[in-house]
This record gives sequence, C-alpha cells and structure tokens, in this order.
Amino acid sequence: MMINDIEKIINDGVLAPSGENCQPWKFELNGNRLSIFNIPEADMSLYNLKQRGSYIAHGALIENIIISSGAYGYTTTVSLFPNKENEAHVADIIFTKSEILESSLYPFLQKRCTNRKDCIRKILPNEEKKQLTDSISDLGFDTFKIVDDDANMEVLGHALAVNERVLFENKYIHDFFYDHIIWDKKDEDKAGGFFVDTLEFLPHQLKAVKLLKHWWVLKILNVIPGVSKIISKENGEKYAKSAAFGAIIMEGSTKENYVNTGRSVQRVWLTATKLGIAMHPCNGTIYFLDQITDNGGKEFSIQHHKLIKDSNIKIRNAFNVTDSKISFIFRIGKADEPTARSKRLKPIIKFVN
Ligand SMILES: Cc1cc2nc3c(=O)[nH]c(=O)nc-3n(C[C@H](O)[C@H](O)[C@H](O)COP(=O)(O)O)c2cc1C
Repeated sequence: MMINDIEKIINDGVLAPSGENCQPWKFELNGNRLSIFNIPEADMSLYNLKQRGSYIAHGALIENIIISSGAYGYTTTVSLFPNKENEAHVADIIFTKSEILESSLYPFLQKRCTNRKDCIRKILPNEEKKQLTDSISDLGFDTFKIVDDDANMEVLGHALAVNERVLFENKYIHDFFYDHIIWDKKDEDKAGGFFVDTLEFLPHQLKAVKLLKHWWVLKILNVIPGVSKIISKENGEKYAKSAAFGAIIMEGSTKENYVNTGRSVQRVWLTATKLGIAMHPCNGTIYFLDQITDNGGKEFSIQHHKLIKDSNIKIRNAFNVTDSKISFIFRIGKADEPTARSKRLKPIIKFVN
C-alpha cells in the first residue's frame, strides 16, 4: 500500500544530517501528498540564523526522500515553500507510482554519517575528487570545490577551528553546545542531540570537556592557561591534517537556495560514503559570520567580530570565492570507522486522510 511505502520512505529521509542532530522536521501525509514542515524551536542557536542550517537539513532530507522513492517505485514532484504565508512549510512532495529505479546512492543512505576521527593526510586520487565534484552537476545548482594544498590546508584548518575558540568563550554558544550533548547512550531516544562518543574526543579532551561544562570554570581557565585557544589550536592542527577541505558554493541566499544546498550536501556526502571517504562538516566559523553581517552580531564580543570576519576572508580566499556564498564546508579523507553514530527519533507524521 502506498501509505506504508511512504512511511518507509520517510524513515529513509530522516537518516539525513541536521545541525546538532536536532531533526527539525515533521510531516503531514494526505493521500499521495507529503507536506514537510520545519520545527524552528528545534534549533534557535547562533549557528542557525533565519533557520538556514535547518533548511539545509531539510534539503538533505528531501534528497534522501527522492533517492528512496526511486527504490520503492515512485517518482516525485517536489515544490519548495508551497505556502507563501508559512515559511515553516518547506515542501510538498507528490508521489506517483512508477517502475523501480534504484539510484547507486540508495545503499548508502543508512551508512552515511559524520566521522570526526582524524583523517590521513594523503591527497585523494583525481578520479575520486572528480566523482565528488560531479555528484551534484546534474542538479543544476551549486558547485563543490576541493582544496588540498599544504598552505591552504593550514590556513583553513585554523580558520575553521575558530568555531571552537568562540564556542568556549561565548556563553550562548557554550550553553547551546552542552544542551545538545547526550552523555548517556540510553538518553538518545528522548530528544535530538549528539551522543558524546560521536564527537571523538581524545581521553584528555573528554576530561576537559566535562570540566568546561561549568561556565565559571571555563572563565577562569580561559585566562590562565587560555584553554579556548589551546583547544582551537589543537583542533586546527587536526583539521589541517585531513586529505582535503570541500565546500558547497551557492548563488544567492534565499530559503530555496539553502534547501537546494542541503540536496547538494547530501549528494556529495553519499558519494563520499560510497567511495569510503569520511566527512566532518566544519561550519561554525562561516555561520557565525551570517549573525554578524545579517543580524548585527550583538551576542558576539568586538574581539570575536574581528576574529570571525578575518577568518572568513581567509576561508573565501582559500576556496577562491569572490561573489558567491560558501554554504557548507567539510573536512574529508580516509579515516577509521567512527566510534559511534547518532540515532534518530521516530518521525512525527500526521495522517490527514
Ligand atoms: C547544516 C548542518 C551543519 C552542520 N555543521 C556541523 C559542524 O559545524 N560541525 C560538526 O561537527 N557537525 C556538523 N554537522 C553534522 C551534524 O552534527 C550531524 O549531521 C548530526 O549530529 C547527525 O549525525 P550524522 O551526520 O552522523 O547522522 C552539521 C549538519 C548540518 C545539517
């Protein structure tokens, strides 16, 4: 029955990534029409200005749904933001029964995950890089650029790790981060968030992270020995030792552009999974800039305004981007399997008919 198939397709859909695994989606199924809604309260963080990060997550969800539909024998017609009065109504998808058309990416929906382990600093073969960049060419929006020379790796590693410096110096971001860490595996069914093991802290880092949960401890340790700078430096070095950094670059910054970016992100990520390449998104530094340029950035100190702006100039130069917008950055490479994987909540589906 179509309704059972669509439920299975939704379950494949929600394997998509979302910021802090917040899973900001809910569904309404009316015959062969699936309406997808954003849940803004799921992520009100400084990473998610105007729900842009959540729209990217919705794009990844939609891409999964399109891929899964083919495997169940349906074609899909997607309309983005069908209700101009309601920006939480992200998409309507109409399913039409057809022949089974299994995409080569379908087997990798389950396998894709964020892998925050160290990567091997070995340049990826040209053929693999080409497969990654080609994976989105038929979509007709966005480009995927890869940077992997030593000098730019160093610059990008440290510029992207500015996220961690700000995270451990800004109370809003610190509190949001700690609110989303799940310390005990059995709590994963209760709410979105990431299980601590998926963050791949080394033993000494885990000790520090537990201690730094208390803002007052952090305030002291940021003076002597400057713990936020130490963490940022250590992570910057780790990031620079990846095989490459990859960025999705988009034209325009409408809600639709962000959803489309999510589709590109998912295509590249599934293709990487197929090639055995680990991916770790590193977006904090670029998303903080949006807060400053589009929202005044009043939650950031003057020192952080400068740090974030300067780092973004370095990032754009490294990717050689002038007019377009970088909407998503990964570090990529060959790595061991992740220690743990994030779980998904059961999707909220309202059956209208
Ligand atoms: C828009 C967006 C931005 C993200 N940015 C980051 C990031 O900056 N750092 C990070 O470690 N993970 C980032 N992630 C990955 C999520 O934390 C991850 O997808 C989520 O925890 C679920 O885990 P999974 O990808 O293993 O399924 C991002 C994901 C999305 C969709």
